[in-house]
Amino acid sequence: MKRIAVMSGKGGVGKSFVSAGLAIGLRRKGLAVGVLDADITGASIPHVLGVGKGPRTNPNGSMAVGRSSTGIAVVSMSLLLPADDKAVIWRGPLISRAIDQLHNDSDWEDTEVMVIDMPPGTSDAALTVLQSIKPDAVIAVSTPQDLVTTVARKSQDMAAQVEVPLLGFVENMAYLDCPHCGERIELFGASGEERLLAGGAQLLARLPLMPERTALADQGRLEEAPLPEFEVLADAVWEAVGILEAASA
Ligand SMILES: Nc1ncnc2c1ncn2[C@@H]1O[C@H](COP(=O)(O)OP(=O)(O)OP(=O)(O)O)[C@@H](O)[C@H]1O
Ligand SMILES: [Mg+2]
Repeated sequence: MKRIAVMSGKGGVGKSFVSAGLAIGLRRKGLAVGVLDADITGASIPHVLGVGKGPRTNPNGSMAVGRSSTGIAVVSMSLLLPADDKAVIWRGPLISRAIDQLHNDSDWEDTEVMVIDMPPGTSDAALTVLQSIKPDAVIAVSTPQDLVTTVARKSQDMAAQVEVPLLGFVENMAYLDCPHCGERIELFGASGEERLLAGGAQLLARLPLMPERTALADQGRLEEAPLPEFEVLADAVWEAVGILEAASA
């Protein structure tokens, strides 16, 4: 199984949206896909992929994955909690242990590729994912703003320090195509591509703001949407994973 972690030093830049979209894109390529929601205190993947709560114990004692409508396996803290508006108030070590358990104790069945939606930041929880789960590669999400670009570059540095290869950056919310006149608006300024790629990484995708997809994501129906941008991203990611594998063989 291949594991790809989606990270960013910054919160709210679209890690979960990109994780869900990437998972859907990979699924549309015919792969058996799983998503590990490693954001324990801000779990959002089951909501976006429309996976409901339910009994989660297999007869052999392992944790059963939830399934989206197209069969994406989902493991998340929020599937284990009675209500979504209850806060998980845990300190770092407990959160790290929970991430490990969600990963290790779940029966991932036939999953070929696991997308890991990381919590924001470069502290405990992110470190647990990188060091303990040891993904095959990471993708870093940024938006065009200067500050975000700088913080996203921190993710690159963190991945390098723990020796997990960076597949590349995704620049999210890069522009908006006006639905009325078609003009392209760069809401957060021109692309930060040059700054982002200064460390030698590649740009996997520049994703627009997709307001109508946010609405579908909010209703747990993102899988129903046409998502050409994410299909292209999934192709780029899968190709990069293949190149990485060939290089390490
Ligand atoms: N390209 C996009 N087009 C439209 N909406 C988007 C896009 N990217 C993200 N969003 C929306 O912006 C909000 C924040 O995104 P998201 O939750 O994915 O960020 P995050 O980086 O995972 O945040 P956190 O750091 O809290 O985990 C969500 O409502 C999401 O649906
Ligand atoms: Mg998130």
